[in-house]
Amino acid sequence: MSKLRVAVVGVGHLGQHHARIAGSAPNAVLTAVVDPDPARGPEIAAKSGTSWAASLDQVLGDVDAVQIAAPTGFHHALGLQALKAGKHVLMEKPLAATLEEGQALLEALSKARASKPGLVAQVGHLERFNPAVAALRERGFKPRFLEAVRVSPFPARSLEVDVVMDVMIHDLDLLRALVGRPVVDVEAVGIPVLTPYADLVNARLKFEGGAFATVTASRVARKKERTLRAFGDKEYASLDFATQKLELLRLVMGPEGPQVQPETADIVEGEPLRLEIEAFHAACLGLGREGVTWEEGQEAMRVADLVQKAVAKSLAEIHRA
Ligand SMILES: NC(=O)c1ccc[n+]([C@@H]2O[C@H](COP(=O)([O-])OP(=O)(O)OC[C@H]3O[C@@H](n4cnc5c(N)ncnc54)[C@H](O)[C@@H]3O)[C@@H](O)[C@H]2O)c1
Repeated sequence: MSKLRVAVVGVGHLGQHHARIAGSAPNAVLTAVVDPDPARGPEIAAKSGTSWAASLDQVLGDVDAVQIAAPTGFHHALGLQALKAGKHVLMEKPLAATLEEGQALLEALSKARASKPGLVAQVGHLERFNPAVAALRERGFKPRFLEAVRVSPFPARSLEVDVVMDVMIHDLDLLRALVGRPVVDVEAVGIPVLTPYADLVNARLKFEGGAFATVTASRVARKKERTLRAFGDKEYASLDFATQKLELLRLVMGPEGPQVQPETADIVEGEPLRLEIEAFHAACLGLGREGVTWEEGQEAMRVADLVQKAVAKSLAEIHRA
């Protein structure tokens, strides 16, 4: 079978890894990297053994698929351009900068699929490909209460959006996937610290069916932490995204009453971004299902929007008091 011809669009902090992985992926050929930066584009092209183009229109005729890792504000325009040309798209998260732009992308996708039904549109919620997450989901764990923490020292990037759209959105997508039901209610508090936007946010989510989650995201923390704790009916899971460790405990009835029994999960460590990108390539070639769909990306945006509105409300209350 012939390989998928791919372009990586935007080769900054994350896009360089898209290029590295696409350049060595088993089912793809990295045809070009696209970046308007005349220093960065050629540098990453040389490192990945491919050519450089300054704009997407220069390469669309030569590729089957694009992996878009340009700043979030460009997702909408680049996604529309790729779909119009009938190309498969892996869009970095968040799907778009606003709910309206996300909706416009979904509408364009449905139009594009009318003439090309197999078109793949995946969004880069890469924690779904974290092997520890995959191991937890394989067990059919049904969480009732979850606590997610994703905090890090201040980055010098993605400061044009708040910590909800940049960081918390990973957990908003993942929690919904784990619970398997939509979020129906949100409370949240947040504060701007080093940017005009909320840099630290804590949200409480209620899901259809009664499950709850608390989610904390910060980009002004002293240390990095990315963890999830989930409590189910007689089961508990503690997951560390960075180390890909999963601790499972189950409550069982022993001869002397209830006992907590540790269980082991077989985890084959792997780079989540590589797993995500290879799944995208396989889906484009008809060898598997697409990873996280754009509809799921838009659902994470819907909940992010609710969190942002709740944060704005709590800030207004604080200023009034
Ligand atoms: N999945 C994740 O865990 C994860 C992690 C980091 C970033 N991201 C997402 O990836 C995207 C990029 O983030 P980043 O931190 O790499 O940003 P960055 O600023 O480091 O890099 C962006 C690159 O895109 C280029 N660019 C700008 N306009 C462009 C255009 N019109 N066409 C092509 N390239 C263009 C810039 O020159 C730059 O090289 C954002 O949407 C961000 O949310 C996702």
